[in-house]
Amino acid sequence: MEWRFAGTMARDPHGCSALAMPALRAMFHAACSGTGSSARGGLDCPKSANRAAMKPQPPDPQRLAARMADIAPFHVMELLQRARALQAAGRSIITLCVGEPDFPTPQPMLEAAIAFLHGGDVHYTPALGLPQLREAIAGYYASRFGLDIPASRIVVTAGASAAMLLVLGVLTNPGDRWLLPDPGYPCNRHFVRLLEGVPVALAVDEASDFQATATRVAEAWDEATRGLIVATPSNPTGTVLDAPALGDLCRTVAGLGGHLVVDEIYQGLNYDCTAHTALALDSEAFVINSFSKYFGMTGWRLGWLVAPPAYVRAIEKLAQNLYICAPTPAQHAALVAFRPDTLQLLEQRRAEFAARRDFLRPALHSLGFGLPGNPRGAFYLYADVSTLCDDSYAFAHDLLDRCGVAVTPGLDFGANSCRRFVRLAYSRDTGQLEQAVQRMATFISHGR
Ligand SMILES: Cc1ncc(COP(=O)(O)O)c(C=O)c1O
Repeated sequence: MEWRFAGTMARDPHGCSALAMPALRAMFHAACSGTGSSARGGLDCPKSANRAAMKPQPPDPQRLAARMADIAPFHVMELLQRARALQAAGRSIITLCVGEPDFPTPQPMLEAAIAFLHGGDVHYTPALGLPQLREAIAGYYASRFGLDIPASRIVVTAGASAAMLLVLGVLTNPGDRWLLPDPGYPCNRHFVRLLEGVPVALAVDEASDFQATATRVAEAWDEATRGLIVATPSNPTGTVLDAPALGDLCRTVAGLGGHLVVDEIYQGLNYDCTAHTALALDSEAFVINSFSKYFGMTGWRLGWLVAPPAYVRAIEKLAQNLYICAPTPAQHAALVAFRPDTLQLLEQRRAEFAARRDFLRPALHSLGFGLPGNPRGAFYLYADVSTLCDDSYAFAHDLLDRCGVAVTPGLDFGANSCRRFVRLAYSRDTGQLEQAVQRMATFISHGR
């Protein structure tokens, strides 16, 4: 994939670039070799083909849409698969690569969903979401942030993922450029590509706490640029855009005539700083949120989006067509997400995450991991392992094989210095984090 860096060009290490295509084709033809298959490859393998040749074959790359060569898988999945195989063979594995809270869905939400399901009335909701849930989310903005956000601007979605797809879907024409920080959450650039837009990487580092700055945005902007996507707190770095920096981005993007999309999925998981929202600064920003992380509902597939009023109808049409509505039982569960008893439980969990971070950060530091930036949110540490190894991808594999600790290689988050970094998720209890640190200490002291 041409993962363009602002001012330069780089080949996306995730992407199946043109270079990889002959290899894929060769793999495909090899899979059917000896079976008498025609030039159309495995699609017309004869019935007499041997068992190996009857296994599901990858589709002929020539038959896939061209964009699929640019949609990368999550590299960490290979590690997870390996971790499962090791576990099945009796090894103890500590998984620090999973981007979801380890806590179960809060009991009040489970009970609300169960009560709703017992009623048996499980039908579609309006595409914009249950009216009472949209009202509840509006109420949350009022009580938590003192903001008056009308429910009519709130769209309930199938997770932050669907919210991002809706926003980009209503804003992106073919060839439109979107600026995205690198490292960053990888799916966003794939969504841009899916819509025939052009994702443009803004390389960010410690100097700006791994966040986009107004200056870099202005430099990278051109007449084809449609907007900027940021996340605060961020995945994979856990860093936060504080209000003045976010305000600068709002003004800069508005001044350039573009759109600002702010992914606030980790809102609420803030440590040493109070949660805030771009909605307080910019009524034209598209703000994405989710019940996945702070609310502990990853598997329920529920999120929301706050859009400027002029765009809500277009978003509604797209949601109707893409997925009709967000899951109905999940929406009923979320109706109690903002109740005081639920919020009290979620705040206890936040305190637990903070304690884990406060243990893990210095512990990693003492092992020689570099920890640039100020991780004040989410549940991630983005660690520089360049003093320990030459290649973080190989390091992650070694770490898993030799000491049973699974971390995510930087490769999953972009192309910018990705071979120097790994992401560690403290979505495991402190006992497991302590054990992981001990194992890594042994691994490092024995030399890789
Ligand atoms: C920054 C960011 N945005 C969006 C998502 C997708 O979240 P959801 O489960 O709400 O679709 C994730 C998931 O890890 C994420 O880290």
